[in-house]
Amino acid sequence: MQNQINKMEHKNKTAETKFGLHPVLAQRWSPRAFNGHAVEAEKIYRLLEAARWSPSASNEQPWRFIIGFKGDVTYQKLFDTFIEFNQLWTTTAPVLVLCIADTMSTKNPGKPNPTYAYDLGQAVAHLSFQAHADGLYVHQMSGFDIQKAELAFEVPDRFKVISAVAIGYIGDPKVLHPNLKELELADRERRPWIENVFVGRFGQSFSLI
Ligand SMILES: Cc1cc2nc3c(=O)[nH]c(=O)nc-3n(C[C@H](O)[C@H](O)[C@H](O)COP(=O)(O)O)c2cc1C
Repeated sequence: MQNQINKMEHKNKTAETKFGLHPVLAQRWSPRAFNGHAVEAEKIYRLLEAARWSPSASNEQPWRFIIGFKGDVTYQKLFDTFIEFNQLWTTTAPVLVLCIADTMSTKNPGKPNPTYAYDLGQAVAHLSFQAHADGLYVHQMSGFDIQKAELAFEVPDRFKVISAVAIGYIGDPKVLHPNLKELELADRERRPWIENVFVGRFGQSFSLI
């Protein structure tokens, strides 16, 4: 109910598509205003479980996460690594997560895992869809000091910090800095997909209809 009220304060951000996406995919977006309400433990476990069950090359599961809750030391340490722009809006996010990947293979000791970033990204995608299905929103970030995060959290050398995410219930855009409020209310945009999908050779348009 709370979530619905807050949703109504936003303009409709649903992806405009004529191909009828699953509602979780169409309606997911990355807000910067959260309402500050804590996220239920069950939902936290569920979104982490979604990440755990995502596919990865050779089932290497290179993802690792460090999770912080507003008010705890982990949250503050992670927040301190963010660039100012991200600190401006993450203040209302109840949960912050640092996303880390194992760059080395565990199946072939001594060999790098070339798909670590791909696999971690996919795990975070699954996490964000499960979160959305549970009424939560996820905002991914690369605007933070990776080295500072690696030091602060004593990340071993073979692991690489890749991204961070803010998770919570959507909030009122009014709480945001005016520039951010404008972004919050802006249309979501994408390149036309004719520029993304090709046949025969790179750049050659694909069409079935
Ligand atoms: C890897 C990654 C890094 C991002 N970094 C930031 C960031 O540092 N700050 C920010 O406000 N948004 C960041 N974003 C959010 C994107 O700007 C957003 O996903 C994109 O504009 C598409 O909007 P949508 O998610 O609402 O569809 C990031 C997203 C991804 C996937």
